[in-house]
Amino acid sequence: MELVNITPMNFNSNIFHLWDKKWFLLTSGDFEKNEFNTMTVAWGSFGIMWNKPFAQIVVRPTRHTYNFTEKYDTFTLTAFPEDYKTALKILGSKSGRDGDKIAEAGLTPVASQLIAAPSFKEAELHMECKKIYHHKFEPSDFLDGSIDKNYPGKDYHKVYFGEIVNIMGIAAYANK
Ligand SMILES: Cc1cc2nc3c(=O)[nH]c(=O)nc-3n(C[C@H](O)[C@H](O)[C@H](O)COP(=O)(O)O)c2cc1C
Repeated sequence: MELVNITPMNFNSNIFHLWDKKWFLLTSGDFEKNEFNTMTVAWGSFGIMWNKPFAQIVVRPTRHTYNFTEKYDTFTLTAFPEDYKTALKILGSKSGRDGDKIAEAGLTPVASQLIAAPSFKEAELHMECKKIYHHKFEPSDFLDGSIDKNYPGKDYHKVYFGEIVNIMGIAAYANK
C-alpha cells in the first residue's frame, strides 16, 4: 500500500464517519521492547488545543490497553480497509490479557516513524500521537443524565489528548 505523509492541515476526511463507522485501533506501548497492546476504539475526536493538532481518546480502566496508555508516553491510531472489519471486531472484543489477539486478527505490528508505539503494516492511515493531557471523567460533571447509562460498572473512562506528531496515509486521506 502506498502511503504519503499528510500534514494535519492537509488531512481531508469525514472524521465523524471515521470514528463512528470505520473505527480505529488504539495502540500504546513500545515496539522495540515488544511491550504493547491494541484495542478497537470508536469514541474520540480530532481538533486543535493549545495550538497543537490533537487526537483525543477515551479508555476504560478495565481495558488491558489502559495499563499501556498509563505507562507509555505515546499511542497510535490506525484505520484499515473494509476487509479488516473482522480483525477490528476481534481486537474490540477479546483482551490482550488472554492471548495474542493481534496474531489471531492477522495483523502485523510495525515500527512507527517518530514514536515508540507501533503501527500496523495493513493500516491505510497511521496517526502518531504523544500524550499531552489526561483526566478521569468525573460522573458528577455529567450534565446529561443519560451519559451515566454507559457506565453500569462505574468504570469511567480516562480521557487522553495526544499531540498528532505524524500522519501517514493513502492519498485518499489528503487534499488533492
Ligand atoms: C467498535 C468498538 C469501539 C470501541 N470503542 C472503545 C473506546 O472508545 N474506549 C474503550 O475503552 N473501549 C472501546 N471498545 C472496547 C474495547 O475495544 C474492548 O473492550 C477490547 O476487547 C479491549 O481490549 P484489551 O483488554 O486488550 O485492551 C470498543 C469496542 C468496539 C468493538
